[in-house]
This record gives sequence, C-alpha cells and structure tokens, in this order.
Amino acid sequence: MKNIVILTGAGISAESGIATFRGPGGLWEGHRVEDVCTPGALARDPALVHRFYDLRRAALETVAPNAAHAALARLDREWAGGLLIVTQNVDDLHERAGARRMLHMHGALRSALCAACGERREWRDALPPGSACAGCGARALRPDIVFFGEIPYQMERIEAALAEADLFVSIGTSGAVYPAAGFVRMAQAYGAATLELNLERSEGSAWFDATRLGAAGVLVPAWVDEVLG
Ligand code: APR
Repeated sequence: MKNIVILTGAGISAESGIATFRGPGGLWEGHRVEDVCTPGALARDPALVHRFYDLRRAALETVAPNAAHAALARLDREWAGGLLIVTQNVDDLHERAGARRMLHMHGALRSALCAACGERREWRDALPPGSACAGCGARALRPDIVFFGEIPYQMERIEAALAEADLFVSIGTSGAVYPAAGFVRMAQAYGAATLELNLERSEGSAWFDATRLGAAGVLVPAWVDEVLG
C-alpha cells in the first residue's frame, strides 16, 4: 500500500464541540441548511447568511483539534507514501493539528471569497455584507463556503488522487452530500480498498469493504497506529 486518500466530515470535529449537520440535535442552531447554505439565501438575506458564518468563524476561537485530528496530522508527518486528506469541514482543525497534505473541498470559515473577481483571502474577523475586496475593490466579499448547488473546490486534484489511491478512508461523514458521497465508489472503480470509520453506518456504508463503528477520537488514532505499524 502506497497512496492513501482520506475524506473527513463533521463527525471528526464533533468531539471538539462543533455540532454536526445531520446527527441528533444536529446543527444549524435553529436554521435549516436551505436557509443559510444556498446562493439563493445569500441573495435574499445576506445579513442572515453573513451573520451565521460570522458566529461560526468566531466559535473557532473556542475549540481545539481532538485526538482524531492529531492522529491524521501524525499520519501526514510520518507516512512516506502519497497522502491527501480531503475535508468537507470548513473549520480549521486539521491544519491546527498540523496536517499539511490536505484541502478544504467545501471552503473555509477563515477565508473570504470575492463574488466579483473570485479572489480568496484569509479572513479572521466578522465579514459584513458589502465588505470590499482588497484585490479588485468590489464590495462583493462573501463567506468562502461552497453552497448547495455550487461546485466544490479542487475536484480535479481530488479525482487524480482517487485514481492513484490504494486505500480510501472515510471518517465522520454521513454520505448524504455529493460529490463527496460518491468518492468511495470512484476509489473502488480505480481499484482502491475502502474503509469507513464512523459513529454509525453512513448512507453509503454498503459500498465500503470494511466499516468500524465508534467515535473518531478512538477509532482514528487506533487506525493510524496500525497503518504506521
Ligand atoms: N465520531 C465519528 N463519527 C461521528 C461522531 C464522532 N464522534 N459524531 C458524529 N459522527 C458521524 C455521524 O454519525 C454522521 O454520520 O458523523 C456524521 C456527520 O454527518 P453530517 O452531519 O451529515 O456531516 P457531513 O457528512 O460532514 O456533511 C456533509 O453537508 O451541509 C453540508 O456542506 C456541509 O460539508 C457538509 C456536508
């Protein structure tokens, strides 16, 4: 085994205190996903959408990476083969744990996107609607979040990694949102072995060669120990 691709979702950050989307009591602090997470919602009520992400960006100050993030960062440091950690999460806990070979396919809370010129820039404070882009000057900055109906980032790089993968591992994701939910079948079609680590069986669970059920903070460090042997 040489090349590993890992997909992570909200479940890997749950033990850090960030609510998941679809679990019991799942997120959105009273908001329906469709009310805050679509281009239509942003056009209709920018103040609501910006405030929603401002609160979540600010909440990052109060959370820290957990044992699962730390284990993947260790894998990144010590695994001599190919590795790509693809996260659907918009928190920054993978990178704060020290992971480097990773990407955010659904955007990032600590980033602003210019709707006019497309520039993405690190952003740590509140982002009021009408904030100006430092690149082109347009008052068109929005949260750098991939909304429903938008195309995730770096799909070509992800597909190239899946094509080369010997092992695909899905961690803490419900398998409800495409295209990420389809990665297991893509990896399999290219010949990779597939493993799911999740609290409960995901929607695509049947596609995986093997499933381990439990908390990411326990399962991921144990799996990384096995891989690094
Ligand atoms: N350890 C492991 N898995 C866990 C834990 C835990 N401690 N806690 C919860 N889970 C599992 C849940 O059982 C569930 O299957 O994590 C999964 C979280 O699923 P979702 O809340 O649907 O999150 P995710 O799959 O990341 O959502 C995908 O939907 O709206 C969006 O764009 C958003 O990126 C997000 C996408």
